[in-house]
Amino acid sequence: SPSDPDLVERARAAKEKLGNKVFVLGHHYQRDEVIQFADVTGDSFKLARDAAARPEAEYIVFCGVHFMAESADILTADDQKVVLPDLAAGCSMADMATAEQVAECWDVLTEAGIAEVTVPVSYMNSSADIKAFTGKHGGTICTSSNAKRALDWAFEQGEKVLFLPDQHLGRNTAVRDMGMSLDDCVLYNPHKPNGGLTAEELRGAKMILWRGHCSVHGRFSLDSVNDVRERIPGVNVLVHPECKHEVVAAADYVGSTEYIIKTLEAAPAGSKWAIGTELNLVQRLANRFASEGKEIVFLDRTVCFCSTMNRIDLPHLVWALESLAEGNLVNRIQVDRETESFAKLALERMLALP
Ligand code: 13P
Ligand code: SF4
Repeated sequence: SPSDPDLVERARAAKEKLGNKVFVLGHHYQRDEVIQFADVTGDSFKLARDAAARPEAEYIVFCGVHFMAESADILTADDQKVVLPDLAAGCSMADMATAEQVAECWDVLTEAGIAEVTVPVSYMNSSADIKAFTGKHGGTICTSSNAKRALDWAFEQGEKVLFLPDQHLGRNTAVRDMGMSLDDCVLYNPHKPNGGLTAEELRGAKMILWRGHCSVHGRFSLDSVNDVRERIPGVNVLVHPECKHEVVAAADYVGSTEYIIKTLEAAPAGSKWAIGTELNLVQRLANRFASEGKEIVFLDRTVCFCSTMNRIDLPHLVWALESLAEGNLVNRIQVDRETESFAKLALERMLALP
């Protein structure tokens, strides 16, 4: 069993043996059994920054998903090794934009005469290839905690933004935080010729949204919000910006996982909250704040865990730590140098955002 005391003891012993040589990062969506061994926890932005701030660690064990481990590799020194305890921990959203598709999209924008005035802004939840494309074409990376600042910056550089790969974060930020209208956005479908758009439509848009989404957050609906408001009078609805626009528009508060935690920390006793984000985090927060009299429920009980985040379990973590402690480097995530140099440009633009 994952909470097997033997496994807990083995993880502890392997970590102790490695000492300062290992640094364990844990994303907020990780299981409790894993998060207990994280040296730091955070949202995507905080973890990228923290990974870069540990030059003394020979091994960075990333408890999260593949694109996060890639970003950590890009931002750390060449002799630091980033390890992902289960290589099958991908992200379905990141997989929705491939390098070939994005190169083709850029050709379509070039044909329409707008590539020169378009700045790519790519969500952290994308492959290193997409980050490299972004860096090469003068763009920046963003996370859910700095998307507005990234768009402000991008619109100082050009007239239009190509936002990859999460249409919802792109649309929600444009409409909610930037004062744009839904009509300022068009949806580029990589599975259709020319993205399913005419040159006219592309030229008329300010935001060109890639047709990608998160398979977990995409399942919260307007009904989820209406139902919970009916069930729990006075409830505050707090959701992640990867949710659909209609969900975000109906919510009371919107923000990254770190924002969600901070908001609940500051909430008064007796307040009631319905949270629309990944279930591991919601369960942990519900348990943590129950003793303070804050009632926290999952926005929609039919939505389940992020299956790829959940791939990292205690057995995989124990295996990775014990292997490293025995001198076997396993599951290293290493981005090739050419990709790394351009992806780093884009990530560093994000880290430098005001
Ligand atoms: P944040 O932790 O940056 O809010 O990201 C959420 C997410 O979906 C990561 O996969
Ligand atoms: Fe990807 Fe969504 Fe899982 Fe985050 S929660 S890793 S965006 S599938």
